[in-house]
Amino acid sequence: ARKRLVDYRPPDWLVPEMALRFELDAERTLVHARMRVRRNGAHASALQLDGEELELLSLAVNGVVRPVNAAPEGLVLEIDGDEALIETVVAIRPAANSRLMGLYSSGGNLCTQCEAEGFRRITFFPDRPDVLSRYQVRLEADAARYPVLLANGNPGAAGALPDGRHFAEWDDPFPKPSYLFALVAGDLQALEDAFVTLSGRTVKLGIWVAAADVPRCRHAMESLKASMAFDEQVYGREYDLDVFNIVAVHDFNFGAMENKGLNIFNAKYVLADPDTATDWDYDAIAAIVAHEYFHNWSGNRVTCRDWFQLSLKEGFTVFRDQQFSAHIGSAAVKRIEGVRQLRASQFPEDEGPLAHAVRPESYAEISNFYTATVYDKGAELIRMMATRLGAAKFRAATDRYFADNDGTAATVEDFLAAMQSQGLESELFRRWYEQPGTPRVAVQATHADGRLELLIRQSNPKLPGAAPLPIPLRFALFAADGRKLLERDDLLLTDAETRLSIEGIAEAPILSLNRGFAAPILIEPAPRRDELLVLAAHEDDPFARYEAVQQLMLSALTASAAGGVAIGHDEVVEAARALLAKAGDDPAFVAETLLLPSEALIGDRMPIVDPEAIHAAREELRCSLLSALREPLWAAWRGCDAPEGQAPRAKGLRRLKGILLSLLLADDGAEATAAAFGQFSGAANMTDRMSALTALSHSQGAERDDALRLFAARYDLLPEVLDKWFLAQSSSTRPDTRAVVEALAQHPRFDARNPNRLRALVLGFAMNQTRFHDRDGAGYALLAGHVLTADRINPQSAARLVQPLARWRRLAEPWRPLMRAELERIAHTPGLSRDLTEVVTTSLS
Ligand code: ARG
Ligand code: ZN
Repeated sequence: ARKRLVDYRPPDWLVPEMALRFELDAERTLVHARMRVRRNGAHASALQLDGEELELLSLAVNGVVRPVNAAPEGLVLEIDGDEALIETVVAIRPAANSRLMGLYSSGGNLCTQCEAEGFRRITFFPDRPDVLSRYQVRLEADAARYPVLLANGNPGAAGALPDGRHFAEWDDPFPKPSYLFALVAGDLQALEDAFVTLSGRTVKLGIWVAAADVPRCRHAMESLKASMAFDEQVYGREYDLDVFNIVAVHDFNFGAMENKGLNIFNAKYVLADPDTATDWDYDAIAAIVAHEYFHNWSGNRVTCRDWFQLSLKEGFTVFRDQQFSAHIGSAAVKRIEGVRQLRASQFPEDEGPLAHAVRPESYAEISNFYTATVYDKGAELIRMMATRLGAAKFRAATDRYFADNDGTAATVEDFLAAMQSQGLESELFRRWYEQPGTPRVAVQATHADGRLELLIRQSNPKLPGAAPLPIPLRFALFAADGRKLLERDDLLLTDAETRLSIEGIAEAPILSLNRGFAAPILIEPAPRRDELLVLAAHEDDPFARYEAVQQLMLSALTASAAGGVAIGHDEVVEAARALLAKAGDDPAFVAETLLLPSEALIGDRMPIVDPEAIHAAREELRCSLLSALREPLWAAWRGCDAPEGQAPRAKGLRRLKGILLSLLLADDGAEATAAAFGQFSGAANMTDRMSALTALSHSQGAERDDALRLFAARYDLLPEVLDKWFLAQSSSTRPDTRAVVEALAQHPRFDARNPNRLRALVLGFAMNQTRFHDRDGAGYALLAGHVLTADRINPQSAARLVQPLARWRRLAEPWRPLMRAELERIAHTPGLSRDLTEVVTTSLS
């Protein structure tokens, strides 16, 4: 049964207060719940409580015991009167919980994950985000095994109990939906610190990990304090409890979770030091710590009425974390990375069978909608609104949003109303939330007698005839000699067709469209190669300059892949030569811009995807760059020595060094292989070590085996680092990669129950365009096998793992039927989870 947005009804019953007592034990935990419930309105309906895999031990309504017969999906209680006290006791089995939803065990500690619908796996409850309760929690556990007991809110009483047990009480004064509930019990130590808020309150901060990992929490702690200051300065948002705790766990379904006052993180996004984390890891940690912290306002204080509104908190919070990252690093580079990620994950989603609106209309399983569209396209929508309003009005609008909706469960309409109060065209912007598909914008220019006429058309191939979207189109005009003739930042397209007439333009200009990537659209067609060379040299908008070089590369690559001969290499070489000459000025920008578009992205720009032709075209361009620029590439690589530490310039130099090294290895020559091994063994930080290992991973040279062996020996006991070792092998373009992946699946350190490890090996392989698309379909079969195994362990993992197969329709022969056959094999397997069934059936339909 699909849930539909149009069927939303307010809850019949509310739960103002919830008291929980946990008798914690890994094998069998007892959960005692006391809820005060109150009828919401005058409905005569029964109280419906969700429940999943709960063993009901006792049930009482207003102190009167009732017979214990729970349906598998919950309890339905007939209640006289408008208020009642419901008391339940249930047993749950954390150690047997391999779905990692509800209460589960990770590395000997106990932790929870409740978003979206995990609380029902802990106790009977109306598990929907518009039921907000005040929680009081008492945790009891063995004091030796679980010395630390944490939950949401502020700490209360704690002490010893008989039989070596102890207890701790927690009180959360802010009403919250059940998906924000959390507890942790374990043998943990904290890196502690404090933050004094704008109004002078001191908040105690703790990041809880295994004792040996405490020194690796410094960067996460600094990121947390910087996030708290940023939210005060930029949004006027202050933290509201006495404590803020973060716990890192090694088994986690996604990045992290914003539980009130007790964020729980995938350890990969907490632990860092120069020897174990790359600069990319450092940035990801800062961004995710900020993201979860920012949820305290955009998500927790103002939450979502129902799960269709998910982007209300996620899109907004991603936008906020992107602003934070731009603030602490380079705004231009952060924007380039953000757009690359959007194009790598959201654009293909929007073009394929799994496309959905930022606010979907229906779902079978909500876990399948934590997507690039809801998160990243959702953030682009907020960005468009913020840009349109300008910083001051956007701030006034968000102040209004937080003030009007504090303590409530809100909708996208509530957000749009706050934006409208500052003058935004909210009725138009709302369409962006409702229409799936990436809009196309085509511009036809005619020039005569000093006048430029532009005919601008928008369309959406997913929704022909849909209402036109409001599209902010930032553009500039350039002369052939590179002079900027005009720039416009304020144009908002509101119609399917817009005509613009610009006087005083002496010559036919070059158009630079969608500068700054102000709107998440595709511009069609791309400018000509000679025009792109001018923009690559003269655009002053850094994103647009980057984009011109990327377009130049894409146009060469798609033409070469389609035609089977090298096309456009000279222009790419010329642009690359110019970039290398300026590498010292802005290494981070040069690095991003030199990076060739991925094989997946090239495929997205072609009507039919031939993975072999694309791989060949890209390798050929890499070799052309190497043979034309061998000396400047070596010189630039040698010039990339950077001081240690996280200063932006040092990070830029290391990034460039890695990208240059990979180009130097384009022909797997002996000199470059030796240089890569030298960089690997001499590296003083993980960034240099890892970029060398990645470059070497494709090599046939003996250095590759040596480097992998040394890496495994050094990091055998650090799971987040060993994941990099699995990924380096599953991403290799070597012909033996599939066999290597099959062997690694039998490796003692492989564990299909650990989402990070499964992703590194199996998703890493499925993203490997060269080796996944074997002509005999063996790569697809390998993936399908892992999907079926994963589904019996953890349906959310399986539903994510299967998604590369959803792209079958775009593939050329012989790949298309082979991929489709594997999807059908999965579809016909009995006993599939709801999660996997939804993804597979949608992909086939
Ligand atoms: N709210 C969390 C975050 O974005 C992620 C929760 C993901 N939940 C899920 N069922 N996929 O910070
Ligand atoms: Zn989030």
